[in-house]
Amino acid sequence: MDNYYLELLRKINENKARVCVIGLGYVGLNLALEIARNGFHVTGIDIDKDKVEKIKKGISYINNIKNDEIIEVVKKGYLDATDQYNVVNDNDIIIMALPTPIDQNKNPNLKFLENALKESMRYFKKGQLLILESTTYPGTTEEMIAPAIKAKEFKIGEDFFLAYAPERIDLGNKAYPMRKIPKIIAGVTKYCTELADSFYKKIVEKTYIASSPKVAEFTKLFENVFRLINIAYVEEMAKLCEKLGIDIWEAIELAKTKPFGYMPFYPSAGAGGDCIPVNPYYLDWVAKKVDYELKLVQTAVSINEDMYLHVLNRIEEVLRKRKKDIANSRILIVGVTYKKDVADIRNSPSIRLMEALIKLGADVSYFDPFIPKIMIAGKDFNSIELNNDNIRKSDIVVVLVDHSNIDYKLLYQEAKIIFDTKNVFKENEKIIKLGSGLSNL
Ligand SMILES: NC(=O)c1ccc[n+]([C@@H]2O[C@H](COP(=O)([O-])OP(=O)(O)OC[C@H]3O[C@@H](n4cnc5c(N)ncnc54)[C@H](O)[C@@H]3O)[C@@H](O)[C@H]2O)c1
Repeated sequence: MDNYYLELLRKINENKARVCVIGLGYVGLNLALEIARNGFHVTGIDIDKDKVEKIKKGISYINNIKNDEIIEVVKKGYLDATDQYNVVNDNDIIIMALPTPIDQNKNPNLKFLENALKESMRYFKKGQLLILESTTYPGTTEEMIAPAIKAKEFKIGEDFFLAYAPERIDLGNKAYPMRKIPKIIAGVTKYCTELADSFYKKIVEKTYIASSPKVAEFTKLFENVFRLINIAYVEEMAKLCEKLGIDIWEAIELAKTKPFGYMPFYPSAGAGGDCIPVNPYYLDWVAKKVDYELKLVQTAVSINEDMYLHVLNRIEEVLRKRKKDIANSRILIVGVTYKKDVADIRNSPSIRLMEALIKLGADVSYFDPFIPKIMIAGKDFNSIELNNDNIRKSDIVVVLVDHSNIDYKLLYQEAKIIFDTKNVFKENEKIIKLGSGLSNL
């Protein structure tokens, strides 16, 4: 009998395993580069032809990745990209880094994963290791992927290997690049785990073994929903502080001095992105299946989703005190991404806020060094230049994202009034902060 396990283990140990990454988005491209930098040959597959062409030409479409990083591995022959699935057959390890959003009913939408599985399955062969990295509900690997593989008459753990290894990348976080983030590994069988673990040990500094894919899938959701709950807590406290005449930002700094049992989270117009606001719905969906209601999670979701409305109310209040209403005001939004220094607007609360302000008749413009143009309510908007005139002619400037490369000094000098949701400025007669009841409106 062929020993597929030993053969793949040897290839991994000798850096001879060929790796295919399916889905070259924020996760997939970062991952493909990290694997290629560690001396493995990587072929990326993406249905987006534009991304494929850009990789071939060494052009980055993700702001934390420099062109040179792509060029370096492409030139050495370690990275290639295609939109054709037949390359799956030439590879030993296949990693899926596909989107896992929610549908209109806020239920898990696994269509990207299902499509990629259907396409790649045709080219699976004995001896390969398939790894899922996408965030998903507990049970996906064993209940959705494993049956499809078994239907091809592969024996998982003997002649085909399957594992789950959730991606934990924190884009824009320079202190924790991919290799420094411990990786959780969960194979469907012992051999699946060992192969996946041997592979990731070549890529990241530390790995931890989970007893099953299900617990690893749950853990990924558990840690992200932990963040959402704490964010919702600080958002709620920010609203309370406004009424109590306390500055939440000062309270956070003081709480941080406790060396144990506290971890800082910060208020804003809401947590966005494709993870924090989406993952709770995956957990909620799976909880409902076992007839369990996640009251705390549901409350946290609704606090976070409504936070932009609180910011809207505060803008309205600040303008009203100055005898203006939203409908006849010029409002300059600073920052439209969901995260500082990351060019990603998925589920961004800034977009929701801009939509609401436009609906109320405001004359809205925006500045974001990472997003030159966006479409809001069917209309194209271009990021304006942050110059004296543009700032001066706004009735209010609303800071929603504290990107590093913004001229905050100029903003302060020229603005009539600033509503600061990110604690960029010190409060005074011109600066009103989210989460602070100290403001003299
Ligand atoms: N973005 C993050 O910071 C982050 C962090 C940790 C985990 N995750 C999780 O990782 C997964 C991927 O997220 P992402 O942010 O990289 O998504 P993304 O949307 O940036 O990238 C997904 C890529 O997959 C491609 N794609 C879609 N269908 C395909 C198919 N059938 N075949 C080949 N390619 C296909 C898309 O064109 C896109 O380039 C999600 O489950 C997400 O929750 C994301």
